[in-house]
Amino acid sequence: MTQHDRALLTVAGLTRRFQGLVAVDSVDFTVTPGTVHGLIGPNGAGKTTLFNLVSGVLAPSAGSVRLGDQPLDGLAPYRRTALGLARTFQNIRIFSEMTVLENVMTGMHTRLSSTWGILLRGPAFRAEEREAKAKARDLLAFVGLLDAADTRAGDLPYGDQRRLEIARALACEPRLVLLDEPAAGMNPAETHALLGLLRRLRDERGLTLLLVEHDMPLVMSLCDRLTVLNFGRRIADGTPAEVRAHPAVIEAYLGTGSHDVSVSRGAVS
Ligand SMILES: Nc1ncnc2c1ncn2[C@@H]1O[C@H](COP(=O)(O)OP(=O)(O)O)[C@@H](O)[C@H]1O
Ligand SMILES: [Mg+2]
Repeated sequence: MTQHDRALLTVAGLTRRFQGLVAVDSVDFTVTPGTVHGLIGPNGAGKTTLFNLVSGVLAPSAGSVRLGDQPLDGLAPYRRTALGLARTFQNIRIFSEMTVLENVMTGMHTRLSSTWGILLRGPAFRAEEREAKAKARDLLAFVGLLDAADTRAGDLPYGDQRRLEIARALACEPRLVLLDEPAAGMNPAETHALLGLLRRLRDERGLTLLLVEHDMPLVMSLCDRLTVLNFGRRIADGTPAEVRAHPAVIEAYLGTGSHDVSVSRGAVS
C-alpha cells in the first residue's frame, strides 16, 4: 500500500484565485490517519483559505479534496460533516444562551429534532434523548468540562469555551477534525491543557487532526507532520524537525520580521 492509498485526507492541485491573487496555488498534501498534521505559514500564506476549501465553505478554482476514498468536490459543508469531517472556528462559535451540555448536543447526528419525535415524545424519542445526553456528558468528561454541564455557555472562561467547541465538534463522531487556531487568545496554562487534550484525541481516540496554529512550541511538540505554505504555495512538508531546518521555511519566517520558526509564539499570525 502506498502512502497515497492510506491517506485520510488528500489535497491535490488545490487552487483558489481571488481576482488577480492566487491565495492557494496548486497545493498538494496528504494527512495520514491517526496523526496530527499542522498547516503553518506566515500571515497571508493561504492557510484559512485552504481550510475553507477543505471544509467546503469556499469552492476551489482548481484541484480536488478527498476524504478517504470519497471525493468531496462540490459537496456542501454539512454533507462533508456527515462524511466525518468536523471543524472548529478561529472565532469561537458557541450558543452562549444554551447550557454547555446543550451545546454539545447540537453537534450530534440524532433524530432528536425530527418532527415526529418532537410531536409524539414517545418512548423511543425519550430513550434517544437519554442516550444523547449520556454521550454528551461523556464528551464533556473527556474535555474536562463535566462539572460545567449545566452552566450557561456564555459564562464559561475563554479557554473552557474553546474546549466546549472541541467537544461539540467531536459529537458528530468525526474521522478528521480541522482546528482553526485553537490556542489563539489562550494563556500559557490554557495552552498547556489544550496540548494535552489534543494529544489524547489522537492517542486515546485515534482521531486525525488538521491544525492551523501560530503557537510554534505547541505546533512543534504536537504535530507528527507539517505542511508549510507561503504566498499560497507549499514550500515544505515533513516532520517538525525537517521543516524547522528547511531553508525556505527559515527564510519565509525571517522575511516576515525575524520570528524564529522554532520559538516564535503567536507572533507570526
Ligand atoms: N475573500 C477574499 N477575497 C480576496 N482576497 C482574499 C480573500 N480571502 C483571502 N484573501 C487573500 O488571500 C491571501 C491568503 O489569505 P488567508 O488564506 O486568509 O491567509 P492566512 O490564513 O494564511 O493568513 C491573502 O492575501 C488574503 O488577503
Ligand atoms: Mg488566517
